[in-house]
Amino acid sequence: MPLTQEQALITALLSQKLSALRIRASFESVEPGPIVTTYYMRLGADIPISKIMRAEEDLALAVGAPSVLITRKGASIAIAIPNKERTVVSYDSCLHSLMQDTNCNLPIMLGVDTKGIEKHIDLTESPHILIAGSTGAGKSVLLAAIISGLATAKSKHELKMMLVDTKQLDLTLFADLPHVVEVADDLEKVHLLLDRLHIIVRQRTAKMKGIARNLSEYNALGDHQLPYYVVVIDELADVLMQDRSAGKGIRGYEKAETKLQGLLQICRAAGIHIICATQRPSVEIITGDIKANILTRIALRLPSGADSRTVLNEYGAEKLLGRGDMLIESPCFDQITRFHGPFVSMAHIASVLDNCDGIRNSYKMLESSIGR
Ligand SMILES: Nc1ncnc2c1ncn2[C@@H]1O[C@H](COP(=O)(O)OP(=O)(O)O)[C@@H](O)[C@H]1O
Ligand SMILES: [Mg+2]
Repeated sequence: MPLTQEQALITALLSQKLSALRIRASFESVEPGPIVTTYYMRLGADIPISKIMRAEEDLALAVGAPSVLITRKGASIAIAIPNKERTVVSYDSCLHSLMQDTNCNLPIMLGVDTKGIEKHIDLTESPHILIAGSTGAGKSVLLAAIISGLATAKSKHELKMMLVDTKQLDLTLFADLPHVVEVADDLEKVHLLLDRLHIIVRQRTAKMKGIARNLSEYNALGDHQLPYYVVVIDELADVLMQDRSAGKGIRGYEKAETKLQGLLQICRAAGIHIICATQRPSVEIITGDIKANILTRIALRLPSGADSRTVLNEYGAEKLLGRGDMLIESPCFDQITRFHGPFVSMAHIASVLDNCDGIRNSYKMLESSIGR
């Protein structure tokens, strides 16, 4: 495809700047997308990759962009430049794509990739998720998309949700979903919820012993269907900090952190999956133990490269554009991948709350009429 005027101009500006910086690179192709346009270049054989990685700021200045993000894609270098006008990623089209995947146990809506293609992952394959992002980066909207997508795709018999929101802000919106069996809005309730989950894990492990290795195998036996549990914790840092300062007063001696840590290690096989969000990606919250157990980590925009490294082990999240722009490290992808989250309005949330069964059934009817 011939380049647009803007793409031709940016290609020229990039080439000019790279040659001024003595970085030999040849232009390969342009990939337009809804939020960023990616320019692929082949680096001269004698040019170290670190040299172009260090040129992000210079290239951003050269093309007049707030930031650019450079990554390696196979044998090429991908330079992602924000579009002058960004498109809003549609929740409805993401939901539509997610509903087509009837084999997915617990579909997690991620939005679109840099090309604009809708993507979701199966939570049972990635077992837990951590979402980090500074205020305004889009955590609440992303959590709303994930919860709405799950509640539309799965019935309350297939999926139970537990919500932890000690700040009593965003998640309490979803308290009336038919799937939600528990909302913990203070520390005492968080402890009760974690204790209950430990009991469920023990009961389920006993039931499955010797006949199934995980919930989907157990359900496939057909005797008795058990629902998945998804636990969503908004502001993990708030929960853990409150708990640390509560001393030994709250329900016995075991810290919420220890209970959570224990759960993360053992609950996957029992069909329990945890999604935590946090505004503060400090190493005191996202400890090595947490990282070792939460393999899918989503970084929305973060204040610094150090924060990005805490979440992803790599720089990059400090260069994101906010409002749902994210980088994901996950066993579902072979490298850190950029996605743009969908925008979920209050009207979307209201329609899911009012009628998630109805929306699911109309998708099923549509599917069977196409199948016929
Ligand atoms: N995916 C998105 N697309 C467009 N705008 C978004 C998106 N996500 C967030 N926003 C905008 O950014 C604002 C802040 O998002 P929010 O989720 O409340 O951030 P956080 O919870 O991280 O503080 C929202 O009110 C919305 O206007
Ligand atoms: Mg928020």
